[in-house]
Amino acid sequence: MTVRSAVDLSVDLGFLRLKNPVLAASGTFGYGPEFEPFLDPGRLGGFVVKGLHFDPRPGNPPPRLAETPSGLINAVGLQGVGVASFCEKTLPRLRGYKTAVIVNVCGADTEEYVRVVEYLDGHEGIAAYELNISCPNVKAGGACPAQSPAATRKVVAAVKKRSRRPVITKLSPNVTDVAAVAAAAEEAGTDAVSLVNTFLAMAVDVETRRPKVANVYGGLSGPAIRPIALRMVHQTASRVRIPVIGLGGIATASDALEFLIAGARAVQVGTAGLVDPRAALDIIDGLEEYCRRHSLQRLSEICGTIDVR
Ligand SMILES: Cc1cc2nc3c(=O)[nH]c(=O)nc-3n(C[C@H](O)[C@H](O)[C@H](O)COP(=O)(O)O)c2cc1C
Repeated sequence: MTVRSAVDLSVDLGFLRLKNPVLAASGTFGYGPEFEPFLDPGRLGGFVVKGLHFDPRPGNPPPRLAETPSGLINAVGLQGVGVASFCEKTLPRLRGYKTAVIVNVCGADTEEYVRVVEYLDGHEGIAAYELNISCPNVKAGGACPAQSPAATRKVVAAVKKRSRRPVITKLSPNVTDVAAVAAAAEEAGTDAVSLVNTFLAMAVDVETRRPKVANVYGGLSGPAIRPIALRMVHQTASRVRIPVIGLGGIATASDALEFLIAGARAVQVGTAGLVDPRAALDIIDGLEEYCRRHSLQRLSEICGTIDVR
C-alpha cells in the first residue's frame, strides 16, 4: 500500500491563515449560500461576499452582461442588500462555514466606507474586510478612490482608524501605475492588497448600434485580462511588503500558479466560477497535484519564486 504524504496548501497572510490560497472573488459567489448546491464552501481558502453599501442598492438597469471573446463585460453596478439585511439574514448562516468569510465593502464617500465597517464590526463571523475602492465617489464627481494614490490613502486611513478587523484594499487596473496606488494603501495601513478589479470596457451591437450593456461601459473580466492582471500583480508584489492577493482571469491551477510564482500570497477566482461553479475546487486539487509532482511539502514555498534574470 502506498501512503500519500500530506501536502500543506495553507498560506499565512500574517493577519489571517487560510487553509489553501484559493478564494472566491466578490460579486461572483453571491453572498455564499447561493453556491451551496454546487460545493462545500468549507473546502475553499475563503470567499469574498458581493460588495455591500450601507443601504440596499438596485444596481444598473438591464442589459448588464455582455460576453466577449474570452471575457465578460458586466455593469451590474454594485447591486446589494445593504449591511443590515446581510448581518441579519445571511451572516448567521455563513458562521457555520468552515472557511474565511471576507466582506467586500463599498462606499459613495469615505464616510460611507467607515459606516459600513463600523456596522459590520458589531457582528461576529467575519475574517476581514476587502475595501472596494473602485466605487464612484459622488463628492468627487464620480471618480473612484482607486484612481489616485491620495484618494486611496484617505479612504484606507479612515477605515483603518475605525476597523477592528484586518483590511484588504482591492485595487483597480484602470490606472497607469497600480503599484503606486498599492504603496499609498500600504502607507495608510492596509493589511494587504488584492488586484485586479475589472477593466473598463465596451461592446456594441452593430445591428441596433447600441451599447451591449445599458450603462454603455462595463467591467471586463475573465481569461482575456489574465496576462495584464498578472503583470500588475508582479509589479505590485515587487513594490510593497504587505501580502498581495492576485486575481483576474484565473480558471485553472496553472493560472493560479502563475500568480503565486509572480508574488501573490493567495488568489481569487471570479468569472471562472460563473462558467463552472466548482472551478475553485478543481484549482485546489490541481495545486495539490502540482506540489506532489514537484515534491513540495508546502505550496507557500513557491510564492514569489519567479526568476526574472
Ligand atoms: C458579475 C460581477 C460582479 C462583480 N461584483 C464585484 C463587487 O461587488 N465588488 C468587487 O470588488 N468586485 C466585483 N467584481 C470583480 C471581481 O471580483 C474580480 O475582481 C474581476 O471579475 C476579475 O476577476 P475574474 O477575471 O476572475 O472574474 C465583479 C465581477 C463580476 C464578473
